[in-house]
Amino acid sequence: MTQRPFVFNRPVERIEWVIEQCRLLTAIGAELEQTRPFDGLTIGTGIHLEPKTVALLLTLLSGGAKLVSTGNLNTTQQEAVDYLAARGVNVVGRPTQDASEHDGYLWEVVRSRPQLLLDNGGDLFARYVEEPYDGLLGGTEETTSGRMRLEPLREAIGVPVLVINDSPIKQFAENRHAVGQSVLESFIRLTNKSTNGRRVTVFGYGACGKGVAANFRNAYAIVSVVETDPVARLEAMLDGFLVPEREEALRSADVVLTVTGAQGVVTAADLPLLRDGAILANAGHFPWEIDAAGLAAAAGEAGRRIHVLTDGHMVNLAGPRPLGNSIESMDLGFALQTRCLEAVARGEVGRESCVVPVPRAIDEQVAAAFVKL
Ligand SMILES: NC(=O)c1ccc[n+]([C@@H]2O[C@H](COP(=O)([O-])OP(=O)(O)OC[C@H]3O[C@@H](n4cnc5c(N)ncnc54)[C@H](O)[C@@H]3O)[C@@H](O)[C@H]2O)c1
Repeated sequence: MTQRPFVFNRPVERIEWVIEQCRLLTAIGAELEQTRPFDGLTIGTGIHLEPKTVALLLTLLSGGAKLVSTGNLNTTQQEAVDYLAARGVNVVGRPTQDASEHDGYLWEVVRSRPQLLLDNGGDLFARYVEEPYDGLLGGTEETTSGRMRLEPLREAIGVPVLVINDSPIKQFAENRHAVGQSVLESFIRLTNKSTNGRRVTVFGYGACGKGVAANFRNAYAIVSVVETDPVARLEAMLDGFLVPEREEALRSADVVLTVTGAQGVVTAADLPLLRDGAILANAGHFPWEIDAAGLAAAAGEAGRRIHVLTDGHMVNLAGPRPLGNSIESMDLGFALQTRCLEAVARGEVGRESCVVPVPRAIDEQVAAAFVKL
């Protein structure tokens, strides 16, 4: 093996580092080169084009697939596009923030009539339902939001669609451990401040909130949890976190982190409760958990200083040099993706498996392989 200097002077070096570190995908890719489950099949993909998805798409290529791939709105990295195009992937589109331009790219993927779809947010299957075609075998959906969008379309889709987010592996490897780590990493990278002895209030104690709370506690912060669900609040208490009432938790916080999926969790109305100089950040999917603009305006009028990191967008994915979740967590999630697409390609799941969780046998296979790496 070549020894690389651990400095990524060129984007391609980082892409190759990430591919090399996706050890499970590498092992699966070597197997699929022999077994070729995707020979003669085209897979249409609509998922972020960045280094970790490059590793996934190259694995599918190893299995004999042709790929027609576009990214998601606002997340496509040109270096990833160039890397894939040089390896024979038909990459549709370019980095864009324009929703209608992106819509055109998604249609181009669907209208190329792939036999398999790898979807992220339900964009491809929703278009397939509008313009169905012969020969679709099925595919995968990565996210919860995509699952919710596709559930009412089951009848119209009529082919197997396996939902990766509903695997317990995705829940604990990515949502709990990886989101917690990367939110802590992002907080330190963006603020350059220590967490020791800081009072941190975490809103939400679902899979992601649990990891965020645990990682800040492990970094010697004093962590409080605010939960609207009494059962989750009790769990936080038994896990050893403070669970004060909401007002008290805001009054005492040096740092406020939201990770609920809900809207308007912290707003301008909370300004009187917040400490001067408090730092706020959101790790939930949508930038609506913290009303960053409202708080900034109210703080300006009141002569107060409040800092909302990355304007309330996902703190581990927005801002300078975002890395997102760890390579290992994505290696696991993308191994599930690959095995699920393989199962659909081989006809091992039928149309009754439309918008259902990853089959248990695949979870077990992927878990056992990762432990042995
Ligand atoms: N940043 C990332 O990389 C990343 C990765 C995965 C998921 N997410 C996002 O993180 C968010 C949370 O995901 P999850 O899997 O933990 O969800 P979850 O549904 O398991 O947990 C959310 C928790 O928040 C609580 N909650 C809701 N409204 C609240 C409020 N106003 N105050 C306090 N608590 C409240 C709920 O009771 C629930 O326990 C979602 O938006 C998800 O899409 C982010």
